[in-house]
Amino acid sequence: MYKKLDRNAPCWCGSGKKYKFCHQAFDDRIIGFERAGHIVPDRELLKSEKDVEGIRRSAKINVAVLDEVGDKIRAGMSTQDIDDIVTKVTSAMGGIPADLGYQGFPKSVCTSINNEVCHGIPSKDIILKEGDIINVDCSTILDGYFSDSSRMFCIGEVSPEKKRLVDVTKECMEEGIKAVVPWHLLGDMGHAVHTHALENGYTIVREIGGHGCGNAFHEDPFVSYVTEPGTEMLMVPGMVFTIEPMVNMGRHEIYTDKVNGWTVYTADGLPSAQWEVEVLVTDDGCEILSW
Ligand code: MF3
Ligand code: CO
Repeated sequence: MYKKLDRNAPCWCGSGKKYKFCHQAFDDRIIGFERAGHIVPDRELLKSEKDVEGIRRSAKINVAVLDEVGDKIRAGMSTQDIDDIVTKVTSAMGGIPADLGYQGFPKSVCTSINNEVCHGIPSKDIILKEGDIINVDCSTILDGYFSDSSRMFCIGEVSPEKKRLVDVTKECMEEGIKAVVPWHLLGDMGHAVHTHALENGYTIVREIGGHGCGNAFHEDPFVSYVTEPGTEMLMVPGMVFTIEPMVNMGRHEIYTDKVNGWTVYTADGLPSAQWEVEVLVTDDGCEILSW
């Protein structure tokens, strides 16, 4: 249950002000939603200004890394070359690739091509070729603060079907960003994302989704895109989470590679695309921290 403080206690946000002159009304608003039966965030999920500044600095690296990958990526390159760029740029800027060693993940970044949904492992034997679509999913740690975002890249000329999948998936993410409104529910956001995918004849992966992020790599809540309006966690200013729909051209079912234990593929073998941003819920919408 969301806990209140004594009216005259110093506020939990660290402002030094008394609770009653600071976050008491804000907390009452959260408790109102909780009483009405909604899921509300724990206070630990609400980032302080110091946390937000740290996450912004981490995200600066993440964005620069993806910009550099975007400049360099081309046919003939291996996915290990992408990993090398990520490792080099991240460390040159003082960061650490969050993927490396995460639950035993062996590389610094995820590179997922065509029918690979996510968690593709870079390799010198995987060579990008004209017509491929690839997701590069990058995460950075700086001073203990985490950033996480991913982009799609089209290698040379890709088929109109794949191009449309990549474009519509980006639009899905953008619909999600527009639906990040404080005091609305995450289910509203997920529903907006899902609706756009379905309207275009696509499906969205159910088992894997977005997540709280910032003081750890993966925090609560789990951010699904297969949701109904009026459900899931309340979006409260100070929350930071990712919007990262995995949109499939065909059916939504997936399976995981039994040999490497990581790479996720579409069950029907058709292409999948994903874009990811990390957002901060603000008083009037959201701030995109990493893209
Ligand atoms: N970056 C992924 C995410 O969006 C997580 C990758 S974990 C790894 O949450 F171990 F596969 F790198
Ligand atoms: Co993520």
